[in-house]
Amino acid sequence: MSWNEEHARDEHFWRSVAARYDVEPGPINLENGYFGRMTRSVVEAYERHIEFINRSNSVHVRQRFETLESLEIRAQLADLLGTHHEAVALTRCASDGLHSLIRNYNALQPGDQLLVSDQEYPSVLGAMRWLARNRGIELIEISHPFPASFASLVNTYQEAFERYPRLKLMALTYVTHRSGLVMPVQAIAAAARKHGVDVILDGAHALGQIDFNLEALGILFAGFNLQKWMGAPLSLGFIYIDPTRLEEIDPDMGEDRYPISDIRSRAPYGTPNIPAWMTLPLVFEEHRALGGSAAKGARLNYLRDIWVGAARGMPGIEVLTPDDPRLYCGITSLRFRHEPDQQRMVDRLLAEYNLFTVVREGTAHGNCIRVTPGLANSAEDLKQLARALGELSG
Ligand SMILES: Cc1ncc(COP(=O)(O)O)c(C=O)c1O
Repeated sequence: MSWNEEHARDEHFWRSVAARYDVEPGPINLENGYFGRMTRSVVEAYERHIEFINRSNSVHVRQRFETLESLEIRAQLADLLGTHHEAVALTRCASDGLHSLIRNYNALQPGDQLLVSDQEYPSVLGAMRWLARNRGIELIEISHPFPASFASLVNTYQEAFERYPRLKLMALTYVTHRSGLVMPVQAIAAAARKHGVDVILDGAHALGQIDFNLEALGILFAGFNLQKWMGAPLSLGFIYIDPTRLEEIDPDMGEDRYPISDIRSRAPYGTPNIPAWMTLPLVFEEHRALGGSAAKGARLNYLRDIWVGAARGMPGIEVLTPDDPRLYCGITSLRFRHEPDQQRMVDRLLAEYNLFTVVREGTAHGNCIRVTPGLANSAEDLKQLARALGELSG
């Protein structure tokens, strides 16, 4: 067992982490996948920045934020990714950045094909469909077999690359929003590269809970947000473009502030949430002090394993996400096998057990219930879920 895995079980320590969050009285929240909580100190800093920027208005923003602070924040962000600031541009969310990458990808020729799978997030799927329609390009949509394995996920792409030799660009989701399945990004990106296929990575759910390095993954284009697992204020995201491939992404429409050689010209134009960005250095500091994505991810996996370990032995429950440690993170989905309406079971989990979860639609075999613990949850919360699943499925 690694140090992080052992540390993840230290309930005393994680209770002290949970105490850094203000939590509204109410149900036990097991739907932390929508967005994460900020710690109390981050909320306080954010409030201070809102008040300050409101007082100082454009004076501080023009004199310091635009010229100094935003550059420093961008450098810190690049540092977190193990890359250079020239490869990173700030956006307002993951969708914003991913749409910009997809919309402005200019290396398509007539006859090329695009690839998506059934694991893509709807806003990415919609953007890829838009690109295909607008450029008169064929979109290939593939489905992954269920249950997924490391080999099946890679092979499904490998087969698509061989079957459709005119593929030029694909979307790839690092962590899927429906079941928390973690894609073998490195192996898929390596196979894509061999076939001349460019990959745009949707890293929305990966940043902050998976320890990765984009260069090592072989990823050249990616979009992220900071509100899920980094615990930053809402409305912050960014894109990554390998500097050697910047020319393949056109500047975003309406963007006229930056030279064409500057990646910031690839991000959508608009006034950013400046107080939120000013809060980010503290978010990074707290993230690092906690042990970064490796420590946070290990804790979330531990919480996930508590209920999944119990649910695997329940005949009435189907856990959709594999147990291969390479393929899962804190998010995992389940179905009640004999229940046609999963929403009814979500309602019962809430009414009878005080547990808040959410139905996700669109998996090949019907709806599922997504369970996403957060850093404010205790091991006992997940044991409570395991008891509830045992009773409701019995
Ligand atoms: C896999 C995935 N991609 C993209 C997004 C969109 O993120 P944002 O709301 O920052 O645009 C989400 C949000 O839940 C997601 O789960």
